[in-house]
Amino acid sequence: MIGILLLLLPFLLYIAAPQIRKMLSSGVCTSTIQLPGKVAVVTGANTGIGKETAKELAQRGARVYIACRDVHKGELVAREIQNMTGNQQVLVRKLDLADTKSIRTFAKGFLAEEKHLHILINNAGVMMCPYSKTADGFEMHIGVNHLGSGVTTYSVHPGTVHSELVRHSFFMRCMWQLFSFFIKTPQQGAQTSLYCAITEGLETRSGNHFSDCDVAWVSAQGRNETIARRLWDVSCDLLGIPMD
Ligand SMILES: NC(=O)c1ccc[n+]([C@@H]2O[C@H](COP(=O)([O-])OP(=O)(O)OC[C@H]3O[C@@H](n4cnc5c(N)ncnc54)[C@H](OP(=O)(O)O)[C@@H]3O)[C@@H](O)[C@H]2O)c1
Ligand SMILES: *[C@@H]1O[C@H](CO)[C@@H](O)[C@H](O)[C@H]1NC(C)=O
Ligand SMILES: *[C@@H]1O[C@H](CO)[C@@H](O)[C@H](O)[C@H]1NC(C)=O
Repeated sequence: MIGILLLLLPFLLYIAAPQIRKMLSSGVCTSTIQLPGKVAVVTGANTGIGKETAKELAQRGARVYIACRDVHKGELVAREIQNMTGNQQVLVRKLDLADTKSIRTFAKGFLAEEKHLHILINNAGVMMCPYSKTADGFEMHIGVNHLGSGVTTYSVHPGTVHSELVRHSFFMRCMWQLFSFFIKTPQQGAQTSLYCAITEGLETRSGNHFSDCDVAWVSAQGRNETIARRLWDVSCDLLGIPMD
């Protein structure tokens, strides 16, 4: 009996996969707002969640800057988004978050080009990459994900998403592949970033952590002002930025 059940299980899971994925990927940005005249920057928008986020912002008429370290990859994606959305205002600029010089050059260039930045999506990030250091000598994860991206207004968890994020781990790649029926597509993964970026009236909830297009739970350490202050000060110190 148990043997039969075990045999049937993979089959049942396969049949139920669409429902399970839907259950696990609740949270859709339902705003119908259009964004003509708005300027957006999405870091790491050449693939994964960032690419889907950039596409959606372009679809709504914003001028979208794809900020990525590989300009060639960026251009290909920009063409693709222009083609799909009909919005020609999709631009590519070089940004390597593992190099504070590159970040400053990017910022200077942007300030010279644009008067306003309405939407900033700090999306770029690495996971489980082999031990390596940024141009400034920081360990890669802390250097790119935390110091490189800066301290942001909204923090967002996209859920577990099928993307290139697990590229450095063979084991994780296998797991992702195995469970790819259940985990979010990049388009689903982009929903919470979009929700925070474009939903009107969300300002009052600034500073919260979001998941599945809703405010999410944060551990006591994550809510502790003293710890937050220390992290801020240490980060400024590491980057040689005067503390306020
Ligand atoms: N997928 C998930 O399940 C999941 C879960 C939790 C959080 N997240 C977060 O969601 C964000 C997007 O992840 P994803 O799943 O879309 O992963 P992804 O497909 O690997 O995309 C990551 C993007 O970040 C860029 N990037 C990495 N290092 C960079 C650097 N030094 N300078 C500039 N850009 C850099 C990558 O550029 P290259 O293509 O040039 O490497 C790529 O465009 C990440 O911050 C990730 O930590 C994802
Ligand atoms: C997109 O590209 C295809 C060919 O690759 C072309 O036929 C189509 O006209 C393009 N669409 C737009 C909106 O540029
Ligand atoms: C915040 O963290 C500090 C240092 O760990 C601790 O002494 C303090 O009690 C915490 N405050 C709250 C409100 O949890």
